[in-house]
Amino acid sequence: MNLPILEDVEYRPAASRPGTAAGSRSVYIETYGCQMNVADSELVASILNESGYQITTAAEEADIILLNTCAVREHAEERVIGRISQLNGLRAHRPNLTLGVLGCMAQHLSKSLPVRAPFVDLVMGPDAYRRLPEILAQSSDDALFDVRLDRAENYIGVDPVRRTGTNAWVTIIRGCDKFCTFCIVPYVRGRERSVSPGQIVDQVKRIAQEGFKEVTLLGQTVNSYREGDTDFADLLREVSAIDGIERVRFTSPYPVDFTDRVIAAMAEVNEVCPSLHLPVQSGSNKQLDTMQRGYTIEEYRELIRKLRIAIPDIALTTDIITGFCGESDEDFRLTYELMEEIRYDSAFMFKYSAREGTYAHKKMNDNIPEEIKGQRLQQVIKLQESISREVNQQYIGQTVEVLVEGPSKRPAKDGQPRFYGRTRQGKTAILTQEIQANEIVNIRVTDTTSHTLLGEIAE
Ligand code: SAH
Ligand code: F3S
Repeated sequence: MNLPILEDVEYRPAASRPGTAAGSRSVYIETYGCQMNVADSELVASILNESGYQITTAAEEADIILLNTCAVREHAEERVIGRISQLNGLRAHRPNLTLGVLGCMAQHLSKSLPVRAPFVDLVMGPDAYRRLPEILAQSSDDALFDVRLDRAENYIGVDPVRRTGTNAWVTIIRGCDKFCTFCIVPYVRGRERSVSPGQIVDQVKRIAQEGFKEVTLLGQTVNSYREGDTDFADLLREVSAIDGIERVRFTSPYPVDFTDRVIAAMAEVNEVCPSLHLPVQSGSNKQLDTMQRGYTIEEYRELIRKLRIAIPDIALTTDIITGFCGESDEDFRLTYELMEEIRYDSAFMFKYSAREGTYAHKKMNDNIPEEIKGQRLQQVIKLQESISREVNQQYIGQTVEVLVEGPSKRPAKDGQPRFYGRTRQGKTAILTQEIQANEIVNIRVTDTTSHTLLGEIAE
């Protein structure tokens, strides 16, 4: 089912809302979707903090609740609609509660949200967050909107409020210019723009001073980064050279823009971790063409070959879509065989979900029945589970470096607490000894599952 975009809808929140000038008002932010959204929520927290709002982690106590949302698949939107309705129930005890929807879904559904969730007070797209304090301070009977996309907005000068932890997200490029036919991102996040290398380096220096050892550079097409003479390979080297930074990651690169210079930087710079998320989407050239991905499967394979030669211990992950328009049994077989051939460490796998406004929605026939999409999805999930299990088993007996993140939510079977962290390949490692967060330790892997490595401190 696709959501209609309704024109000329009058927007009426449930109750007249007083202006929420900062004072001691508290804000709860809930984040959905990709790491870019996680990073954007940190920006929002910073912008609101600067204006005197307090950030809280308890929705029930908050004066303002903001959901930072994702529009990539319809399912993600359905979940948010359900959640907003649930949160709206808090108004019974907090009549002055302000409920806002931010991010990609706010941008995408700005016209139809008023109908589907008429109690929402605030709708704001990803380029408008600087205006949040101003808008929250306005007193109004009507919901407040700002869904203008701004070609220039890079949130320069806003220093994100980072959750304490071990990895800091740093957005280096916003928006996307690729317009893959299935994808809503270019429409909700606007045109591609890079942050200046100077700003990025300054930010990472501050992060290192705060004690973070790991940074992840973010962008929808992170390796398309270019600003003046600096390309992504230069940036990787500059960021890695900053004192205190021991691990550099990035996500997600776009296969077409993956240069030999970036491969060289990954191979030569020790801080750049040997892990790479390289979305392929499909193993069929016909499908890649209708998706307008810009590469053939032969070119993608060649890129993987070069990466594995240059960085032999690299862990590779990917995104797969099943049941995109016109996907025949043969096209699907090619995807399945590609996964068997490449043997990714893990994969994010999705059923195609038609998104209003995209080229595929307007011009192509979403002709694969839901049932077939689902069956194909189950097949690739099953295949990937067994590959991931086998790939991880190869680590048994090896010593791997782990950056400890903290206590694991699930204790061992005997009730003993466990701790978790991440290897340089980006795999989750579980250990039974207590190690302080942010420590880097070597562990010997004793057992594995398809998702984790288990181990103990190496002598
Ligand atoms: N380049 C971005 C991609 C964002 S969308 C990045 O930073 O990762 C993430 C993934 O969602 C895509 O790679 C694709 O596999 C999947 N996706 C995007 N649009 C989709 C749709 N309409 N239906 C199903 N999956 C989709
Ligand atoms: Fe989407 Fe393709 Fe850009 S998947 S984010 S349009 S690279």
